[in-house]
Amino acid sequence: MSGAGANGAANAGGQATAPAEITAQAVARFDTTPDLRLREIMRSLVTHLHAFVADVELTEAEWAEAIATLTATGHITDDKRQEFILWSDTLGVSMLVDALAHGEDSGATESTVLGPFYVPGSPLRPYGADISEQEAGTPAWVHGRVLDLDGNPISGAELDVWQNGSNMLYAVQDEEAPDDHLRGRFETDAEGRFAFRAVRPVPYPIPDDGPVGRMLNATGRHPWRPAHVHIVVRAPGHKSVTTHIFDAQSEYLDDDTVFAVKRSLMRDFVEREATDPERPEGVEEPWVSLELDLVLAPGAESVPADHGRTH
Ligand code: BEZ
Ligand code: FE
Repeated sequence: MSGAGANGAANAGGQATAPAEITAQAVARFDTTPDLRLREIMRSLVTHLHAFVADVELTEAEWAEAIATLTATGHITDDKRQEFILWSDTLGVSMLVDALAHGEDSGATESTVLGPFYVPGSPLRPYGADISEQEAGTPAWVHGRVLDLDGNPISGAELDVWQNGSNMLYAVQDEEAPDDHLRGRFETDAEGRFAFRAVRPVPYPIPDDGPVGRMLNATGRHPWRPAHVHIVVRAPGHKSVTTHIFDAQSEYLDDDTVFAVKRSLMRDFVEREATDPERPEGVEEPWVSLELDLVLAPGAESVPADHGRTH
């Protein structure tokens, strides 16, 4: 392509240099992409990226700062820390992708972000077992059933559970904690029932000592997430669901820094006296109970991809 734009004519044999012409050329450069989906994605990406740069009239200094931020994101990311996903989470992209993938209301338990603290290979624990391997907060008795869309129990479903303790840390972040602290897998019995002992989760800040934290600070945003327990539920012949159960009394339900709260995932953690006759074995202090039915839609079972984590 050749031609003269508002900001200057092309040299003979050269390319046009006016903003709109640069965009048109960059988009058209992907016309030959053999994979049609990749072609669509690259053309749209360049179109929107150029529109953004033109819209804010990005300066050279701001462009350099953006490159430095991306470079810092790469440098801080390794097999223990995933700062790119943290960008996606805090910009709302992770939940937008989730909504596009699981938007329809099928009646199944809704999904939300996996988060960076999922570690595959949790120990399989028996019905009613305690997932805390050391003192971790107010005891919580979590129990319920896994059901299909018609309300029939699903036996042999697996729950993969992880959460933080009263020190706000997941085991993977906590150098003092055993690897399997506050996590475990459970299987439902013949009636689709499961139960485990956990602790009441607490709100916590996402890791904010890197480029994402600097963005939150510079924009007056806080890094906090409301209290929740993570669960991946799966069973043969059913679509797996990656979800959280949020404490309905928690702070930050209305302004979760990663936009991951869904109303249907809020539950009451019922406060119980130390002397309550239903207390789990070994509990001698005030505790909470959480009743929870989880519903799976029919479909193909899958395991969550392990994208790496953020200590
Ligand atoms: C989490 O819930 O573990 C989490 C999710 C997104 C970003 C950081 C933490
Ligand atoms: Fe979490």
